[in-house]
Amino acid sequence: MSNGLKIGIAGLGTVGSSLGQLLETKAQTLTKSCGKDLTVTAVSAANKDKDRDFDLYKAAWFDNAVELAEKADINVLVELIGGEDGVAYDAVKAALLRGCHVVTANKALLAKHGMEFAEIAEEKGVILNYEAAIAGGIPIVKAMREALSGNKISRVYGIMNGTCNYILTRMLADNMSFEDCLADAQRLGYAEADPAFDIEGNDTAHKLALLTSLAFGTQLAADEIYLEGITNITIDDIHAADELGYRIKLLGVAQKTDTGIEQRVHPTMVPTNSLVAQVDSVTNAVAVETDLLGELVMSGPGAGGMATASAVIGDLADIAKSREGAQHAPVFGNPVKELIEYKRAKMREHKGGYFIRLSVEDKAGVIANIATHMADQSISLKSIVQRAQNGGASDYNQTVILVTHATTEQAVRDTVEYIEKEGYLTAAPQVIRIEDPDKA
Ligand code: HSE
Repeated sequence: MSNGLKIGIAGLGTVGSSLGQLLETKAQTLTKSCGKDLTVTAVSAANKDKDRDFDLYKAAWFDNAVELAEKADINVLVELIGGEDGVAYDAVKAALLRGCHVVTANKALLAKHGMEFAEIAEEKGVILNYEAAIAGGIPIVKAMREALSGNKISRVYGIMNGTCNYILTRMLADNMSFEDCLADAQRLGYAEADPAFDIEGNDTAHKLALLTSLAFGTQLAADEIYLEGITNITIDDIHAADELGYRIKLLGVAQKTDTGIEQRVHPTMVPTNSLVAQVDSVTNAVAVETDLLGELVMSGPGAGGMATASAVIGDLADIAKSREGAQHAPVFGNPVKELIEYKRAKMREHKGGYFIRLSVEDKAGVIANIATHMADQSISLKSIVQRAQNGGASDYNQTVILVTHATTEQAVRDTVEYIEKEGYLTAAPQVIRIEDPDKA
């Protein structure tokens, strides 16, 4: 077909190779549904000679992705290089400026440069699609950008990092340490090139920044996210949460409050009977709360070659079906000039439940003192458990676990600070936020 979609792929790692294979094996189906051929006409990667499971012979080879973006015979650039700057940035910008559509799976790049790219895309009348950038195979961008247009969204949250969810799931299921679970996640290819991006929460934060803009019509504000990773979650926390009726998940949450919009990424306890608590291993889930639907939850594979390539193909099919010269869906759901400035709600004003685990000396008055500090900050306790550490072998240390009803971050921080000054703690306190505390 002469009017087919000509695709340039920059980056032939796990996702790029899966995409190449799928475009070959599903060629007929795609041609039928899109009404045109989807053909890879140009490729670029670090190593030309690497063995790949698809045939590159018809595609022009470019050593340099930017050159591909500038000169190749393509209608759409698929950027799968990764990185928030450098070649990925230059290639995407060059393609947009040239009037090429762009599909990218690069959340870090979009979180940082999305506004600039959206402006260029609008100016040039081209499509910038990024379904694969958020929660892998889950079609959340299309849902939020188009299907939920008539909805007023109050909160969007999700498990958006497969590596973290895999680690947290295995710690509980197999009673394994954080480090051993991380090593397995890396071996299985779920983790980013630098796994710190996964476990410190940056990867989730990049995805959350994009979701926030889609949900609330705000300009991207990736630098204004409260961020805590999962590196200090211990097996003791995992077991304590289980006993109390919770699972620990790394959530990204964007929520409208009286003072602005909260964007936060942190380990979170969710009631075991909630939908997100059932989402295990590398699976992701995104929940959207709206005026018309109540809660909508989508879950599915969030990482891995095929899941990510599935989202990229959806984006390519969308472009193939679009009409030339027609107005395209704005990149972040609203035209750039309509996006409002992001107003950050202060984290200290965050309201929610809290799990507090304290290691304390076993002596008279400790519990009474902790309770007094809680009462001084008007914190209402939902439960309190005390037990000897090391299965009772220690006659000196006790673990005290407190679960609060909804309170404020400020009250909890102040309380923990006062308790630390009392001198009876034998280890650093652990504090984990609870989402929807009164649903458990
Ligand atoms: N490293 C990411 C994850 C891949 O674990 O979810 C998908 O963004």
